Amino acid sequence: MDQSGSSTSNLFSLQSHILAEESLHPGASGDFSWIISAISLAGKAIAHRVRRARLENALGDEGSTNVQGESQQRMDLIANDILMRCLGTRASIAVLASEEDEEPTILRRGNEGGKYCVLFDPLDGSSTLDTNGAVGTIFTILRNDHLIESAERTVCQPGRKQIAAGYILYGPSTAFVITTGSGVDLFELDPFIGSFILVKRGMRIPQAKRIYSVNEAYSASFPQGYQEYLKWAHANQYSSRYIGSLCADVHRILINGGVFLYPPTTSHPDGKLRLLYEANPMAMILEQAGGMSLSGSTPTLDVQPKKLHERVPLVLGSSDEVKAVMRHLT
Ligand code: AHG
Ligand code: MN
Ligand code: MN
Repeated sequence: MDQSGSSTSNLFSLQSHILAEESLHPGASGDFSWIISAISLAGKAIAHRVRRARLENALGDEGSTNVQGESQQRMDLIANDILMRCLGTRASIAVLASEEDEEPTILRRGNEGGKYCVLFDPLDGSSTLDTNGAVGTIFTILRNDHLIESAERTVCQPGRKQIAAGYILYGPSTAFVITTGSGVDLFELDPFIGSFILVKRGMRIPQAKRIYSVNEAYSASFPQGYQEYLKWAHANQYSSRYIGSLCADVHRILINGGVFLYPPTTSHPDGKLRLLYEANPMAMILEQAGGMSLSGSTPTLDVQPKKLHERVPLVLGSSDEVKAVMRHLT
């Protein structure tokens, strides 16, 4: 097994991999596998539209703003619609929630079934799409509690309760990264056969790597400790990489190591990234790969969400590098 997990020689698709995992859970109903297959289908459809966005004149602003007060890109809404249409057909889903929709979508209530809630950022980093930057879809799966009346309260579960999390990165290749709580696996889309093929099992993030990833333009408004950390990193031969697309920055860190920071800023005093469908999925992936993720001094996965779209500060990556940041914050 090399540093970032074992390469595989057999041809395993995402579908066969999930079914093999399901067989490890006697009595599994297959509902969960159906959800992953719906996300996989949506990922292939979004990958296709992302690659044709300029040809189809689908770039740029839609002219609307989402609940976050951010201008929506046309592709944000196209990706959101694809995910809704793929996931809406799965009888095992009670609630869907998206970065692009103010309220959760209730598909089934109480005794109508629906064991799971699926939350997603349909297109992360979409502002880089105009310049052909890598963008992604981030998703997380939670158990539904049908005794809780409010859909928002149902999905406001700490990240530790996620039963699966992952992202699909639309870059030079289309990568599908997923964890169901027993390690992180990497699949790559083979467009000729239309399947995500398993390429790495049990990915492990390097323990240390002198690369930090932060939008330094805002550093004057970071709390003092973060500024102290950056001064220390500059004095200790760190290099910097920042794409401005969380999926792309996290994927690089998962493979090469390093640390990503989005501290509190003047315009985002609680941090910019959304806890439920950006920070938590990435935190689960990083912890499962042997890394760390903190929001302030609390492990991200232990933060108790109060609102669907709440934001948190985020420091995640190689454990030695996250600890180096924390040494300057306390
Ligand atoms: P989204 O495109 O879903 O709104 O997410 C953008 C996020 C995240 O992808 C990235 O890490 C961060 O915004 C970049 O923020 P800045 O442009 O403020 O650096
Ligand atoms: Mn995002
Ligand atoms: Mn988004």
